[in-house]
Amino acid sequence: MNAPLPGHAASNPIARSDALLAVAHVSLEYRPPQRVVRATHQVSFEIDPADRYVLPGPSGCGKSTLLKAVAGFIQPCEGEIRLQGLRVDAPGPDRIVVFQEFDQLPPWKTVKQNVMFPLLASRTLKKKEAEERALHYLEKVGLAAFADAYPHTLSGGMKARVAIARALAMQPKILLMDEPFAALDALTRRKMQEELLLLWEEVRFTLLFVTHSIEEALVVGNRILLLSPHPGRVCAEVHSHQYDLHSLGGVAFQESARRIHRLLFDEGQSPETERDHDFNDIRIAY
Ligand SMILES: Nc1ncnc2c1ncn2[C@@H]1O[C@H](COP(=O)(O)OP(=O)(O)O)[C@@H](O)[C@H]1O
Ligand SMILES: [Mg+2]
Repeated sequence: MNAPLPGHAASNPIARSDALLAVAHVSLEYRPPQRVVRATHQVSFEIDPADRYVLPGPSGCGKSTLLKAVAGFIQPCEGEIRLQGLRVDAPGPDRIVVFQEFDQLPPWKTVKQNVMFPLLASRTLKKKEAEERALHYLEKVGLAAFADAYPHTLSGGMKARVAIARALAMQPKILLMDEPFAALDALTRRKMQEELLLLWEEVRFTLLFVTHSIEEALVVGNRILLLSPHPGRVCAEVHSHQYDLHSLGGVAFQESARRIHRLLFDEGQSPETERDHDFNDIRIAY
């Protein structure tokens, strides 16, 4: 059932009409034979242009499922998702997903051909313009010199950068990333976080980013939505724009990480108690 529920705007305390992406009371289910798995329960949040919005949370809380719903691969059984006011009911070139598995790059295409491919397949651009656009974004991720290389000759970090260039080249309204750096070693992962932030400074794209790492959420995000374990429900939204890679290890950063951990995992801890502890960058959604 995809019909909007009556009274959505009124019953969603954070609903605004000018948001780029509005997720309103979205429940998502899988229906394998003879049972129903509810992945998220009435999740609501809104993303503004140029937000770096992060969904952290324990495995199985429905992060990937939510991302797939925003991408249009699966439909909510309750609630609705709107992009610039239009209901999301199918995948589209305005929402591009970067997954964890960078071996999604077809190995028989060069780096440049990989970046050009979605532009050509979606008929967004003709060959010459697609080539120019591909080279522009490869330059932005520091891979202009590898335009004619094949994916198997690249490191994991470089493949990640190709995947990001390929997604950004489509100039989506929102870039969706599902644990994009999870398969990388710790140092490369940190470098990729830094590069993603630098790229954002330059391009100012809108990002919805899924991670199981609280630390990564604080570094990458300006806002973080905390989802309770299975099925995912919103427990809180935290502002984290004050942190970047330079904050790692700092006292305030570590304290925020600890508090998020408590909110995610301590079932007895109510948001009210957190408020008493002077967690004043938190915005309680429910
Ligand atoms: N294809 C599927 N069929 C049935 N259940 C699924 C499927 N994919 C995910 N699930 C279940 O939905 C819940 C949320 O999964 P997922 O969104 O992948 O979580 P996360 O990304 O937060 O780890 C989990 O309980 C998972 O087992
Ligand atoms: Mg996942």
